Amino acid sequence: MRILVTGGAGFLGSHLCERLLKDGHEVVCLDNFFTGRKQNLAGLIGHPNFELVRHDVIDPFKYEVDQIYNLACPASPPHYQYNPIKTIKTSVMGAINCLGLAKRVDARVFQASTSEVYGDPQVHPQPESYWGHVNPIGVRSCYDEGKRCAETLFFDYHRENKVDIRVVRIFNTYGPRMHEADGRVVSNFIVQALRGEDITVYGEGLQTRSFCYVDDLIEGFIRLMGQTETVGPVNLGNPGEFTMMQLAELTLKLVGGKSRIVHKELPPDDPKQRRPDITIAKQVLGWEPKVPLEDGLQRTIAYFKGRL
Ligand SMILES: NC(=O)c1ccc[n+]([C@@H]2O[C@H](COP(=O)([O-])OP(=O)(O)OC[C@H]3O[C@@H](n4cnc5c(N)ncnc54)[C@H](O)[C@@H]3O)[C@@H](O)[C@H]2O)c1
Repeated sequence: MRILVTGGAGFLGSHLCERLLKDGHEVVCLDNFFTGRKQNLAGLIGHPNFELVRHDVIDPFKYEVDQIYNLACPASPPHYQYNPIKTIKTSVMGAINCLGLAKRVDARVFQASTSEVYGDPQVHPQPESYWGHVNPIGVRSCYDEGKRCAETLFFDYHRENKVDIRVVRIFNTYGPRMHEADGRVVSNFIVQALRGEDITVYGEGLQTRSFCYVDDLIEGFIRLMGQTETVGPVNLGNPGEFTMMQLAELTLKLVGGKSRIVHKELPPDDPKQRRPDITIAKQVLGWEPKVPLEDGLQRTIAYFKGRL
């Protein structure tokens, strides 16, 4: 197949492009390089089945493709809050442009949605049927509400125009090629530990998150796109739940060094806990994460050692 990946130069997108090429497909990677880097695609540039296009998803685009994966959108709070109006445009206009193209060329289209659609959840763990608890006017809303609106668009195009959609809700994912300055907790802790700086934990560090290794997640994407039983939304993530203190201590243990753990004030609207209910992914996709946190952290630490 010929497959378009928007946001293909980013963390997840670059792993997805790599996997699709390995599976024998032609890949068109579209990115505006806001948070993505050509370096993430270093192994792919020059591959006969790989094409890289600099373009912004808020402007329309046309390609003859069989599938579209829509990943374009900054994913970490400092990046998506840098220009919140642009972030919401990216989610909403990007979805409209991908769906319009999918309708026109009859392609199956995939949306990378997020656990952020659940906001600060009052149901735990979160099943797909939970509608969420999102602040519509807070500093995270440009991302959360943008992604919620994109989901609405996907389902309206599906109902009204029979567009063949697939929607995943991604929970925290980590691995090589995360941006070292993106403020996400795994990369923050690793980079701080490698530099011998203090490891900053917000609040008491008792808030929990679950962490999925990137290879597991990409396998889930491919399985969702390869089946016809459900269009989603399907949660993909690792149900193993860790407090931020546990993650900080494990990172310190694996990196070694002399960093101390220090506490800082909690940022606004920081969710207290987040854990996916992955019953649907297990039943429909036969999918569950395989890489334990310690193994995944080791691979990620090795990557950051190389970069720093
Ligand atoms: N990594 C996670 O844990 C996670 C969790 C939930 C959802 N997601 C979603 O998965 C997708 C990929 O996330 P990631 O972690 O790889 O983040 P990332 O920031 O590394 O990748 C996003 C990519 O999109 C590109 N981009 C941003 N705005 C664009 C625009 N207007 N036009 C074209 N390209 C644009 C960036 O340059 C970058 O290459 C995002 O949509 C994100 O919301 C990721």
